[in-house]
Formats: sequence, structure tokens, C-alpha cells
Amino acid sequence: MFKAATYVERRKLLRKSVGSGLMIFLANEESPMNYPANTYHYRQDSSFLYFFGLSSPGLAAIADADDGTDTLYGDDIGIEDIIWMGNLPKLKDRALEVGVRKVAPRAAFDETVRQALAAGRTVHFLPPYRPDNKIALAGLLGLPVGELKAKASGAFIKASVDQRILKTKEEVREIESAVAVSHEMYHSAMKLAKPGRYEYQISGAMEGIALAYGMHLAFPPIVTINGQTLHMHAHDNLLARGRLLVLDCGAEAPSGYASDITRSVPVGGRFNARQKSVYEIVLAGQESAIKAIKPGVNFKDIHLQTARVMAAGLKDLGLMKGDPAEAVAAGAHALFFPHGLGHNLGLDVHDMEDYGENNVGYGEKVERSAQFGLAYLRMARELKPGHVLTVEPGLYFIPALVALWKKEKKHKDFIAYDAVEQFLDFGGARIEDDVLVTEKGRRVLGPPIPKTVADIEKACRS
Ligand code: GLY
Ligand code: MN
Ligand code: MN
Repeated sequence: MFKAATYVERRKLLRKSVGSGLMIFLANEESPMNYPANTYHYRQDSSFLYFFGLSSPGLAAIADADDGTDTLYGDDIGIEDIIWMGNLPKLKDRALEVGVRKVAPRAAFDETVRQALAAGRTVHFLPPYRPDNKIALAGLLGLPVGELKAKASGAFIKASVDQRILKTKEEVREIESAVAVSHEMYHSAMKLAKPGRYEYQISGAMEGIALAYGMHLAFPPIVTINGQTLHMHAHDNLLARGRLLVLDCGAEAPSGYASDITRSVPVGGRFNARQKSVYEIVLAGQESAIKAIKPGVNFKDIHLQTARVMAAGLKDLGLMKGDPAEAVAAGAHALFFPHGLGHNLGLDVHDMEDYGENNVGYGEKVERSAQFGLAYLRMARELKPGHVLTVEPGLYFIPALVALWKKEKKHKDFIAYDAVEQFLDFGGARIEDDVLVTEKGRRVLGPPIPKTVADIEKACRS
């Protein structure tokens, strides 16, 4: 948690930007796994964390732009909770920690919102994403659950994005604390990536390190020898020499800020010639992308530049043909690089995605492309100092996609299908770092995590 003044300032700016009406916030509740008292790890809603700082269920809040007040709603715990869960400071004292002077019982929140609606005042709400909060909000506002997303407040979303998208020094410090733990996680994983181990032994060790530093994982980790499946969350394969192990994990600091790192490691610690050739292309793409980051450049242009660098590398390798720039303009590279270069990072690993991807990554100026591959780019804004982004190019050999495109003769002037078919057992390779846009350029956050072929091989041996 930051100083109270930080939250006071954040809410003041929010009230000013939205201008009028009530901004309402619902805390996340406990979420049951298999019966009510057996719950998942508790995670507060990120908007609640950003503006009201407190990480516990049973809370709601209102920032009133008309009278300039902020109110925290919740109930002090009774003796039963004290017996089973332990004591908690009084709500009024917790509220003061985040600079809120007005507190009221939780039931008064619903009453205040109902009265405001009856009086014709505007009640601004953010798009809910948890089923229980959707139901609660639908009941409170008298709206069908299915309409909540469309009826969420554009002004509230925009004001929140504008504030949260540029990180302050204290926020960057939190993200870097998570990257520092990732550094430990990756050094361990590299040492463990040996034939005969199971993927879950690596993912378990990585999660254990996050926990041992008082952190959690920021998202379900990808630890797979089948990196060609982009969001592979199963970890039950046996590691075998000749496979690349894609490790995409992030830590979440106690403050909620996340890291998001990917490394691709040869099982057994030495890249074979084919792995090295593909890996070096991804690395060249990632390094060129990081170098291009500076204020005033649109991240979409960096995505396309990276695609051209990798297309040129694939041409040298004999997997693509023709002019790399033309191939990228046509979208042919997306056979190998079907996702976006990166996304905003902050309190969420895909920061603020609950507000809607386009609201965060696109704003009003750039329209999202419909082209396969480019359509998945989550961030296409002009870069400003304070943006924190992931830079995560990858190359994948997805047998079903290769077969489909070959059958359709898609981009046949740019893709050497016969040569590509020799790589169908490759899997995938991705490299991801977290980068801060600075006044003059960029800074890769956290201590360097081995990334070159030589450094990864050394870390695997150590
Ligand atoms: N870990 C998900 C991502 O890299 O976007
Ligand atoms: Mn990632
Ligand atoms: Mn990422």
C-alpha cells in the first residue's frame, strides 16, 4: 500500500476528470472453489486497489464528483469472525490509511446508489467481470446482467485508463520488485530444465519461489514443451532433449503489481542448430523492438517493425520468400507470429483489460486491424514516458495452421511450405521482458534475466 496522499490524489483527479455523478466501486468477494468456505486465493479488484488501496472483501466505495467526497462502505467484523479469521482494524482506521474520512455500513452503499438513481443522478460504474459482482450490480442498478458491459460508464473508463496507464516511480518500483523475483524464478527453472523431469516440477518450483518471497503468481503459468499452443496451461509432459521449454510466468507483489516474463530454454541446456536458428530470429526481433521504444512512437509500428525483422530472418532460414516488408503488409508472417508484440502491464498482467481491450490499448486514435495476427495486438497507442509494456515476440510452428494455410495456398508467394513442414515438430519460442518508456527512450525493468543463447546455456549449466 502507498501513502494515504497517493490515494487521495488519485481520487481527486478521477472526480475532476469524470466531472459529475457518483463513481461506484465494488470490492471483489471471496470466490469458492468447491464449497463456500473453501476459497481461491483472494485477489482484490484492481480499480478498487488503485483508488482505495484496501485488499479485502466486503467493501464498496463511492467517489462523489458533485460534492467532492469519498466514502468507504463496509462492516466491522464481529466476534465470530474474530474467532475464526482473526481481528481486523476498525473500518474507520483502515479508511484513514487510504485517506478516506467518511465510512458507512455496507448496506448504506446500496441505499445511497438507489437514492441517487431515484433522484436522477448519474451513477458511473466500470464493467464487472466476476459473476457475483455482475449479479450484485445488475440487482442494484435494475439492469439485465447482459447489458452491464454496454452500459458501463465511458467517462469513468476513460478517466481510469488515462490515470493508470502512465506509471509513477513508486508503481514502477513495485513492478520491478516482481521482476526481481522473476529473475530468481527463471534462474531456478533454467537449472531444472533437464530431460526426465516433468513440466510441473518446473512450474511448481517457480511458483514456490514467488510464494517464498511473499508474492503470488500474477497469472496461470505457461511451462510447456508445446509452446506452439499459445495459452497451454497443462504441465504434465516429460521433458525430452530436442524440445524447447517455453516458460511464461509472472510474479505479483503484495501491492498487486505484476511482472510478466518469458524465456525459451532448450531441454538439457544446449540449443541444437535448428533451435538456435529460430531462437536467434526471435531475439533479433525482441532486441530491435526494445531499441525502437521511445516517446512519440506508436507501439503498432514497433510490432510491424519486429514482424519485418523476424520475416527477414525466416527468409534467410528458407522458411519465407519474397520481400519481408511486403510479406508483413500482407500478413504472411502471422503464420509464425500470430499474436501481438505486447500489452500494458501494471496492477493486472494485461493491465486494465477488464475495461475492454480497445479502451486500454487503442483509445480513440488508432483502429484495431482485422488482419489475422495484427488483430490480436493489444496495445497500439503512441508511447509516452511512464508506459510499462511487455515486449514479447515469438515464432511458432502450429501444424494445424500450416496445414490449413497450405491447403488454401494462402500467401504462397511468401511462405516456403515444403521447408516449413520440416519444422512441424519444433514447438515454439518466445522472449518477453517488461519495459518502461522513459523521457529519452526505454528501460528494461528488473535485473537482467539470461536471454542470449550463451547466457541461457550458462544459466542452465550453473
Ligand atoms: N502471460 C500472458 C502474456 O504474456 O500475455
Ligand atoms: Mn507472459
Ligand atoms: Mn505478456
